Amino acid sequence: MKPDACILGIESSCDETAAAVLRADGTILAEAVFSQQAEHAAFGGVVPEIAARAHLQHLPGLVADVLQKSGINPTALHAVAATAGPGLIGGLIVGASFAKGVALAHGLPFLAINHLEAHALTVRLPGLMPGAPPAFPYLLLLLSGGHCQCVLVEGLGRYHRLGSTLDDAVGEAFDKAAKLLGLPWPGGPHLERLAATGDPALVPLPRPLMGRAGCDFSFSGLKTAVARAVALGQARPQDIAASFQAAVAAVLADRASHALDMAPSVTALVVAGGVAANGAVRAALGNVATARGLPMLAPPLRYCTDNAVMVAWAAVERLRYGLVDSLAHNPRPRWPLAELSGTAAA
Ligand code: KG4
Ligand code: ZN
Repeated sequence: MKPDACILGIESSCDETAAAVLRADGTILAEAVFSQQAEHAAFGGVVPEIAARAHLQHLPGLVADVLQKSGINPTALHAVAATAGPGLIGGLIVGASFAKGVALAHGLPFLAINHLEAHALTVRLPGLMPGAPPAFPYLLLLLSGGHCQCVLVEGLGRYHRLGSTLDDAVGEAFDKAAKLLGLPWPGGPHLERLAATGDPALVPLPRPLMGRAGCDFSFSGLKTAVARAVALGQARPQDIAASFQAAVAAVLADRASHALDMAPSVTALVVAGGVAANGAVRAALGNVATARGLPMLAPPLRYCTDNAVMVAWAAVERLRYGLVDSLAHNPRPRWPLAELSGTAAA
């Protein structure tokens, strides 16, 4: 594949509709993200049917837009890639079908990209971070509204999930705690702002699984404790918010530390997902990395959260090994990273 080969990427697995045109050398020619947040806010969470319809409504315009901005005629594309799982099946079908349509119409290869693999490889996009991209293996902490896991990234197609959540994802926990505090959805950023004015030491909250072997997560007990503190009405909301955030940061640091014990030869601690935006979380994870002499790498926020550049980049990585998918490939709502193992020589 030549460095100037252009890939169209499409993301539609949750509530962001996104398209991007990326060159194989990592140059982002054009990108667009439409966040459906406003359409779901009234319901306090993502409504799958509304999401699917919104993807259908917005995706064609976004793709036309990025093609026009990049000055690339679809026939000049090298390949088309879409997220094909895991995620909400309606949105996945919209994105993957659209990508297949473009591929079929212009005789291009199609790639069905695993969303988690796309998050895992983002940090390798040249020029995204200062310095050289991390070498394999590295530890990925995926901290979003839908995913919460520690993944050892050994190479392309070689991922080992070391631990994951037993109940809620960490972003979900932020959103539920925020809701209990009367904040709008999605509550993570609102809770962080409120926490800035509170005292993290005032409300005693549990730190689930802290110190336990392995690197699984659990947040439902913490959420229940927040509900109890709110119902008691004795603590100020900002103190509850600050104490919750401190508990989450402490738990994440402990889990990351255990994950690093399980993967001693990694070159970096990579953090992705919307919760990577949280200052307390970043600081706590940064300390864990520093204590081991490792860099902590978090892509710029727009590439930490769902976007199509990461989908196109995962396609570039796979195309280097000649990996493409059939137009008969079906999107999968559940698609664990482990099932990609062995798909590529790395
Ligand atoms: O990765 P993301 O944009 O979407 C997916 O879930 O796939 O993550 C969104 C999650 C939401 O739960 C949101 O509340 C949380 O990330 N989040 C934050 C912050 N910004 C976003 N949580 C805590 N602090 C923040 N500053
Ligand atoms: Zn995601």
